[in-house]
Amino acid sequence: MCLCVYLCICVCVYALLSVCAFVCVVCLIGIYLSFPLSPTSFCLIFINNEWHDSVSGKVFSTYNPTTGEKICDVQEADKADVDKAVQAARSAFSLGSVWRKMDASERGKLLFKLADLVERDSAYLATLESLDTGKPFLSSFFVDLQGIIKTFRYFAGWADKIHGSTIPTDGEYFTLTRHEPIGVCGQIVPWNFPLVMTAWKLGPALSCGNTVVLKPAEQTPLTCLYIGALIKEAGFPPGVVNILPGYGPTAGAAIASHMGIDKVAFTGSTEVGKLIQEAAGKSNLKRVTLELGGKSPNIIFADADFELAVEQAHQGVFFNNGQCCTAGSRIFVEEPIYDEFVRRSVERARRRTVGNPFDPTIEQGPQVSAEQQSRVLELIQSGITEGAKLECGGKAPPSKGFFVEPTVFSDVQDHMRIAKEEIFGPVQQIMKFKTIEEVIERANDTEYGLAAAVFTTDLNKAMTVSAALQAGTVWINCYNALSCQCPFGGFKMSGNGRELGEIGLKEYTEVKTITMKMSGKKS
Ligand code: NAI
Ligand code: MG
Repeated sequence: MCLCVYLCICVCVYALLSVCAFVCVVCLIGIYLSFPLSPTSFCLIFINNEWHDSVSGKVFSTYNPTTGEKICDVQEADKADVDKAVQAARSAFSLGSVWRKMDASERGKLLFKLADLVERDSAYLATLESLDTGKPFLSSFFVDLQGIIKTFRYFAGWADKIHGSTIPTDGEYFTLTRHEPIGVCGQIVPWNFPLVMTAWKLGPALSCGNTVVLKPAEQTPLTCLYIGALIKEAGFPPGVVNILPGYGPTAGAAIASHMGIDKVAFTGSTEVGKLIQEAAGKSNLKRVTLELGGKSPNIIFADADFELAVEQAHQGVFFNNGQCCTAGSRIFVEEPIYDEFVRRSVERARRRTVGNPFDPTIEQGPQVSAEQQSRVLELIQSGITEGAKLECGGKAPPSKGFFVEPTVFSDVQDHMRIAKEEIFGPVQQIMKFKTIEEVIERANDTEYGLAAAVFTTDLNKAMTVSAALQAGTVWINCYNALSCQCPFGGFKMSGNGRELGEIGLKEYTEVKTITMKMSGKKS
């Protein structure tokens, strides 16, 4: 079925189901106004501001995880297409090119324009995102899209404020530093936040003046490709951004090992992160930033605001259908409140509404693919086998689509697979602790170090635990409070480098030191 018609039907169903007429009306008007392109015109490879068929002639299908049905075919990029894209990006980055000669403030203007276009088409993009990923529409619209617009504007503002320093060198010299773009950046993004990750990657890369070859995940290529259309409409010169839908081991691997790519930024599994670092080392030692998996501890002390802690712990693991690298999937609860915390968490999980992402009353949609659904169910089974207590959920409901029931385990022990491995699904693990020293040691006893949280009303305890936790982000009395102004990234095997914030810009520049001999005495 034509994607346009499909989207319209989805939104109409959503409108009928809606309890919030205002949101429906806004969305329908938004979608009507924002149909600038037929979807068939962007399910292709985007190189040099033009749409291309794959060199091999191959296509792959993208599916609606809510029904398991095919949405449409997309051109499949492979190594030959990556070569073409790298050539375009190299040429756009060459000395004397429009992009290299452009004033930094003009680069900022283009990014502001891109943000405006995303805002204009946000209802359409949120619809497409929910269709392709299964994430609840209200979340796509109000969380993802608003975050993306802010991210582009944040990095637009930075474009003409990226500068070096002058340095008081010994002797008769004058030294200054320049923060220059690295060159062609390969960017590989995952399926759990296809558009958000696209913005986190494109924003700083373009703000600093790099060019980009970006690959969306094979499960969710549609919104990222639509951004290609907006890049062209915003007026970025040809070759500055190139978008290649395709598979990881083919197109992704070609990016990681390409001799013409100067840096690769990746978000995804730790397993693939290692492959990318290895490929970079074996090819041209390209710069590598990695944002990988997590098994984040969420520590709830007995003096915490109990209601807040139960709800935040729930949202911290179930948000985005449980498919978050930051998921607070190891919940350590202090002994005196443990039983009540389990009881209330189970009650909350049972109330969690699961279903069609376009129904505004639902909190949880399907997992992104049949593969992810089986992976989550297999890990749930391992929890049961290893002796954790399954309090609720645990199964795939008898419906079409890749759903998993909201699941809660109590009596989880640190050695169990569900306490060690990233589940990436709607599964909550609750453990008991007695002392602050014990919980710090157990929280840090993991190969990951992406995020952590602590719930307490004691400021000293909050700061002591925050300082001791080995994690790139620690939240106190909140969870998933991310912002484009704050650095984000992992300790240990959760990654290399940081995204977002001023520090995120450093990952997209090379620092050049220029020293000039001065004649005469320095004053
Ligand atoms: P993945 O790491 O294979 O996929 C992420 C991206 O990497 C996709 O664009 C994929 O095409 C690409 N990729 C895959 N193999 C590659 C290779 N050899 N070279 C270059 N690029 C490659 O993740 P997958 O298999 O889809 O999910 C498996 C698990 O990974 C999930 O269950 C979850 O635990 C974790 N994951 C973590 C994410 C995060 O946000 N940190 C996002 C997605 C998955
Ligand atoms: Mg994989």
